[in-house]
Amino acid sequence: MTDQQIATAAGDAAPGADAPLFRHAVRLASFPRGGVAAVFGASGGIGAALSSALAEGGHFNAILCFSRSSDPAFDLTDEASLARASEAVAAAGDVRLVIIATGMLHEGDAQPEKSWRELDAARLARAFAINATGPALLMKHLLPRLPRAGKAMLAALSARVGSIGDNRLGGWYGYRASKAALNQLVHCAAIELARRSPDAICVALHPGTVATRLSAPFASASGVAPVEAARHLLGVIDRLKPENSGGFYDWRGMPVPW
Ligand SMILES: NC(=O)c1ccc[n+]([C@@H]2O[C@H](COP(=O)([O-])OP(=O)(O)OC[C@H]3O[C@@H](n4cnc5c(N)ncnc54)[C@H](OP(=O)(O)O)[C@@H]3O)[C@@H](O)[C@H]2O)c1
Repeated sequence: MTDQQIATAAGDAAPGADAPLFRHAVRLASFPRGGVAAVFGASGGIGAALSSALAEGGHFNAILCFSRSSDPAFDLTDEASLARASEAVAAAGDVRLVIIATGMLHEGDAQPEKSWRELDAARLARAFAINATGPALLMKHLLPRLPRAGKAMLAALSARVGSIGDNRLGGWYGYRASKAALNQLVHCAAIELARRSPDAICVALHPGTVATRLSAPFASASGVAPVEAARHLLGVIDRLKPENSGGFYDWRGMPVPW
């Protein structure tokens, strides 16, 4: 693990941060002080901003930032790499906060499907591997490592378009379906987690429309900056309680229909 991968509460810059100073850092005072926070997908737009905000906030002793190019690196399609990264998190102290900020909407030439005519088995499998199976395996390796007492949380970034109840436009089959699967996986895991760690929380969060690589080809000018999205998400993370575990919430903390 290099210095860059551990941005400490002393204020080391996290990788990929474009705006390191958060004037209104979220205090995260609902979590016991100290311990470890980890961001998976720290090279992404929202993940980098979350990493910086956590370092700036100074609440946790260590902020571990993982990506496909960190040390150790992880790839969501390689369970051994997820196990290694999870071990590194647990070795750093009490695991208080894990944010899975990975995700895929388009990759290479593969754009989200506009019609059933574009459905393709390999592309669907890839969407599920990255948006659902990979995060599920991270939950497998990390949820048993959350402390048995005191607030701790695993938050997986989902998307409102994964809501079946909210789907009025259709399209984006693979992304929508894989995010709906992620939501179900989070809900299942939260039920099991409650038996072991009653103070712990496992949730799916919708970050809002955010100006990142993922949204660039689609988002209108209304997408917020990643720095702002990170502040919103950490505010929700600070407010969520054990009774909210298993839920799907947006950046304001409002429940999103399944
Ligand atoms: N931006 C929005 O408007 C928006 C809206 C709703 C939901 N979301 C959700 O928010 C989350 C973060 O999105 P973002 O906008 O920050 O996207 P982003 O900038 O494209 O970041 C995506 C992240 O996922 C990582 N990733 C992709 N495939 C991976 C793999 N196989 N193994 C490991 N990491 C992988 C990327 O790593 P590399 O850097 O190595 O590619 C990157 O760190 C996603 O779950 C997304 O669905 C975003």
